[in-house]
Amino acid sequence: MSTAAYQGATAEAIRHHYDVSNDFYGLWLDGSLTYTCALWDESGAELAGIQGDLEAAQARKLDYLIEGARAAGAGRVLDVGCGWGSLLKRLTGIYGVRHATGLTLSDSQAELVRASGIARTEIRVENWLDHEPTEGYDAIISIGAFEHFAKTGLTRAERIAAYREFFERCYEWLPSHGRIALQTNIKGNNTVMDKATVRELMFIIETIFPESEIPALSEVVESSEKLFDVVSLRNDPDHYSRTCGEWLRRLQENREAAVRISGEENVVNYENYLGASVRHFKNRHLGLARIILEKGR
Ligand SMILES: C[S@@+](CC[C@H](N)C(=O)[O-])C[C@H]1O[C@@H](n2cnc3c(N)ncnc32)[C@H](O)[C@@H]1O
Repeated sequence: MSTAAYQGATAEAIRHHYDVSNDFYGLWLDGSLTYTCALWDESGAELAGIQGDLEAAQARKLDYLIEGARAAGAGRVLDVGCGWGSLLKRLTGIYGVRHATGLTLSDSQAELVRASGIARTEIRVENWLDHEPTEGYDAIISIGAFEHFAKTGLTRAERIAAYREFFERCYEWLPSHGRIALQTNIKGNNTVMDKATVRELMFIIETIFPESEIPALSEVVESSEKLFDVVSLRNDPDHYSRTCGEWLRRLQENREAAVRISGEENVVNYENYLGASVRHFKNRHLGLARIILEKGR
């Protein structure tokens, strides 16, 4: 195992978050258990929370990234950080992908994906750094995992080196002109923070997502230079604010069951983290990048 060089959150830190309980997450995520920012309809009414269905907005997001990566009908697709398997299911079930591989560091996520018996899909509890496929991939998609690839407190140069390692692996695995569809939280442009904001962000880093640090957009782009061209890029902070608001509403609707499953302290922590996230995306302390990258040759 080559993780000596690994600069991201450890498997223990990842499990601290994702292994809380599958039933707990099932109470407030949508039916596909997608745990990343959705893509709401651009009409405005959805973003304003007047209408909109979370499951449909999650499916729209998966479709956007599948199309961006040109994964439809592909032979082999890699999902780095596959969560509870919603993308894998869509790739093989709807988009005719012949073989999908999902990587996660969470045992409970892997158990659930295995139990749901998604066709032509391999699920591995494995760090991307240790992944050694016997064949390459036609497309790579990674949604909401990049935030864990550099641990808290590294310098900008160290973070870029850690991210570059990821892009080098992807480069190795993809054919010429192969694509990555990457979705990640990014630091926002609003760096003016009062003490309460700093405290809330520290609470998220220390209690909710230990050992993880959100990248700056420039770090993502710089670390992919000379390996990948940016094909398209959108920043959707309002979409994440709206998604977190929806998750919080569902958690509060199911509060009693959530406390029974995971305890009062955990539920209060999640209410605080989701509430803070609604505000920080809205205030532009955080952003949400969806980037399509293409290997040059
Ligand atoms: C926020 S979840 C997103 C899950 C899924 N992509 C979704 O949209 O619902 C982040 C995922 O990244 C995985 N992850 C984090 N760091 C990883 C690493 N170094 N190697 C493989 N998976 C990793 C976690 O185990 C988890 O499955």
